[in-house]
Amino acid sequence: MDISFHGIPIAQTMFNLLIYLYLIDRYRIELFVEIGVMNGGLANVIIHRCRLPTWRNLHYLGVQLIEDEVMPQVKKLVAETAANHGNVSIHYGDAFKQPTISLITGRMNAAGRTLVLCDGGDKPQELNLYLPHLKPDDLIIAHDYGPNEEWDRVEADILDRHDCVLLEPELIKPAGNLAFIKRRSNDG
Ligand SMILES: C[S@@+](CC[C@H](N)C(=O)[O-])C[C@H]1O[C@@H](n2cnc3c(N)ncnc32)[C@H](O)[C@@H]1O
Repeated sequence: MDISFHGIPIAQTMFNLLIYLYLIDRYRIELFVEIGVMNGGLANVIIHRCRLPTWRNLHYLGVQLIEDEVMPQVKKLVAETAANHGNVSIHYGDAFKQPTISLITGRMNAAGRTLVLCDGGDKPQELNLYLPHLKPDDLIIAHDYGPNEEWDRVEADILDRHDCVLLEPELIKPAGNLAFIKRRSNDG
């Protein structure tokens, strides 16, 4: 079922939308990075959270290849929120190229607990590129996960090579996401 918020289509299921909001709250996320903003439907929901007095610690960074895909009302919301609260922005660029990589990783380093949502053109590659930049306790999610051999390989390879564990797989995998949390050095 297609969903929209304030008339802006969201390329997510209702369940996924709830999962992202739940994760932001449960893990006290301070920076939400969305790779692949498209119309800006999800951005619109998250940015409205960033404007609430109780969620002011939450920052949003969207990264989008093709600027024209982002709806004008979302651009307006970003500009207004940035001017009044300073905690949101959309960067137009390629998540696989410089200077976008440095911008994202710089923000991840400087921020408190970060959640990176990989929802651009190649989610496994986005996972592989940004996962090494997570700080302990940061989260990363790849959207459009399906239980198949390709994703099984991606998952096994990441668990083998990186110091992270699956994040709430019983909740997150059935919704079509693969998510990891970076371990703290003293975790077993
Ligand atoms: C599935 S849509 C994103 C949907 C959006 N996250 C939502 O929830 O409504 C994927 C978007 O990623 C963008 N994209 C593709 N490759 C990209 C790249 N290398 N860097 C940044 N954005 C990219 C596409 O232009 C497209 O708008």
